[in-house]
Amino acid sequence: MEVTKDEIVFFVKSVKEISNYDFTEYSEKSFGRRLEKIKGDLNQTVEQIIAKMRVNTEFLETIIREITVNTTELFRDPPLWHTINEEVLPRLTNKDEINIWHPGVSNGLEAYSLLIMLSEKGLLERVKSIGTDLNPEMLDIAVKGKYRYKVVSDYLANFDLVLNAGKNEKDSSFVPYSKYFDLDKIKGTIKMKSFIQSKVEFMRHDLVQDRNIFGHEFDLIICRNLLIYFTPNLQNRIFDFFHQILKPNGILILGAHESILGSAMQKYDKKGAIYNKR
Ligand SMILES: C[S@@+](CC[C@H](N)C(=O)[O-])C[C@H]1O[C@@H](n2cnc3c(N)ncnc32)[C@H](O)[C@@H]1O
Repeated sequence: MEVTKDEIVFFVKSVKEISNYDFTEYSEKSFGRRLEKIKGDLNQTVEQIIAKMRVNTEFLETIIREITVNTTELFRDPPLWHTINEEVLPRLTNKDEINIWHPGVSNGLEAYSLLIMLSEKGLLERVKSIGTDLNPEMLDIAVKGKYRYKVVSDYLANFDLVLNAGKNEKDSSFVPYSKYFDLDKIKGTIKMKSFIQSKVEFMRHDLVQDRNIFGHEFDLIICRNLLIYFTPNLQNRIFDFFHQILKPNGILILGAHESILGSAMQKYDKKGAIYNKR
C-alpha cells in the first residue's frame, strides 16, 4: 500500500501531538517505506492507525517500534571490529576510566560485542559503558541480555571471524562462546554472563530531543545505523552534539554507510572508519 507525502506529514504531525516522539527530521524515503509496510500489514489507512494510536498506548508503542528499524547483530560488520581492536582499543589502554556510549543500541548486542572485545584486551575492569535507545522494548531485552538462540546463532560466525580467525579450537587463545554466554539449547536461549552485563547500563535517550543526561563525557561513541534515518540537517546537529560530549581526543565510530558530510566535518579528523575529535 503506497503512502503519499501528505500521509507521511499527517502521521508525523499526529504522532508528535499524541506522544513524545518526534519524527519530523527523519528521512522521508525510509520512513515512507516503513509506514507503507505497516499500512499493508494492518490493511488500514493512516487515519485509522492514528485514531487507534490515540487511544491505545500499547498499540502506539508497537507502531513506533515498527516504524524505527531495530535490526542489529553480535559483532555486526566484522571488519569494523578488527579496526576497533587494532586502532581504537590501544588508544584506551592508558586511561583510568573508559567511558563508552552506544546511542541507538537496539537490543544491546552491539554494546555486548564491544565489552567482549574489551574483556579480551584485559580492559573490562576500567570500562563504564552506556547503551541508549528510543525504544523501551529493545532496552528491556538489552537489560536482560537474553536472546533467542535461533536469532543469535546466525551471528556466532561473526564472533568467530572477529575473535577466533585463524585459530584452532585447541589453541590457548581460542575464545569459546561459553566464556561470555550461557547457552541453553533446550530452551533455545543464549544469555550474556553477568560479569559482562554488569559493565553496561541501558537507558532511554532520544537522540533527537535529549542532550547530555549522563553527567559526564565519553572517550568513545559508537553510533551505527541510526543517523542514516535522519535528514542531513539533523545529522549535522547530532555530530555537533557528539563533538561536545566527546572528551579531548575522543573517538566517534559510525555505521558502514554513514559519514559526516556537512559543516560538522571541520570538527573531526577522519581516518578510515574512525572520526577523531579535533
Ligand atoms: C538499526 S538499529 C541499529 C542498532 C545498532 N547500533 C547496530 O548498528 O547494530 C537503530 C536503532 O536506533 C533506534 N532509534 C531510532 N530513533 C532513535 C532516536 N531518536 N534516539 C535513539 N535511538 C533511536 C531504534 O530504536 C533502533 O533500535
